[in-house]
Amino acid sequence: MSDLSLTSTITLNNGVRMPVLGLGTFKVPNDQAYSVVRQALDIGYRHIDTAAYYANEEGVGRAIRESGVPREEVFVTTKLWDTDHGKKEALAAFDRSLKLLGLEYVDLYLVHWPRGERAETWKAMERLLEEGSARAIGVSNYTIRHLEETIGRSYVVPAVDQVEFSPFLYQKELLSYCRTMGVVLEAHSPLTRGSRLNDPRLLVLAEKYERSPAQMMIRWVLQKGMAVIPKSVHRERLIENAGALDFTISPADVAIMDSFDEGLHTTWNPEEIP
Ligand SMILES: NC(=O)c1ccc[n+]([C@@H]2O[C@H](COP(=O)([O-])OP(=O)(O)OC[C@H]3O[C@@H](n4cnc5c(N)ncnc54)[C@H](OP(=O)(O)O)[C@@H]3O)[C@@H](O)[C@H]2O)c1
Repeated sequence: MSDLSLTSTITLNNGVRMPVLGLGTFKVPNDQAYSVVRQALDIGYRHIDTAAYYANEEGVGRAIRESGVPREEVFVTTKLWDTDHGKKEALAAFDRSLKLLGLEYVDLYLVHWPRGERAETWKAMERLLEEGSARAIGVSNYTIRHLEETIGRSYVVPAVDQVEFSPFLYQKELLSYCRTMGVVLEAHSPLTRGSRLNDPRLLVLAEKYERSPAQMMIRWVLQKGMAVIPKSVHRERLIENAGALDFTISPADVAIMDSFDEGLHTTWNPEEIP
């Protein structure tokens, strides 16, 4: 596991391969998204995560198109926002995203949150998959209950569930459920949005491995067999975060990091999910 690179992939349930480490772009304004994605691609990142909600699909897409990297070498994810649930609405939202990105297809299209007309929305997602406009379809912020509901009534099992996941929010049961069902779990906010980077226990381990706290957190997720999409707008941090790919945390130290779990949700309140 220590020899991962920015082109190492995890295979989704329909055979599509997704690079295990990608770049997150939440809260990156459109203009800046252009330059950050160009830098990331230049460094070697081949997986970019955006969403209609981030209002930066135009910049992300332009950066990909102008980068000189062949389209088929970049894995692009975007997401359907809460106000676009429903079959017709979802198809229209996808078209808008594709136009803004300026691409002919996306690699992964996700339902951003389990809100609204989930069943109808999923039918639209299945159609996009069938048409080939999305190479894979999945969900985000789905709990086991939401996944069971979707899987129980659909033809297509979501390829991915993108959820908040870090040593401070170790969603062990969800991970185990996803492994059983063949759903790849992808960690968003793996750095706790910076809020636990100075945790003294993490600092001790970081010193032991001569790695940064961010690298320790990203590596911990990778060793769970998951994909991960840390966000940074700084070139040196993009490089630093990719440095999580080439070292190994021992099982004993992974177990120590497992124990950091405090149910920390930095992005949402679980009580608010229907
Ligand atoms: N599906 C969803 O509902 C959902 C929700 C949240 C996030 N996401 C996705 O997941 C991505 C990542 O999550 P996130 O943006 O919430 O948070 P995150 O990746 O956990 O943390 C990002 C924060 O950490 C800082 N940072 C990055 N690398 C660092 C390093 N090496 N050392 C110190 N600080 C570092 C960044 O600052 P700088 O940028 O200033 O470097 C930023 O403030 C998002 O961008 C988005 O694509 C999805």
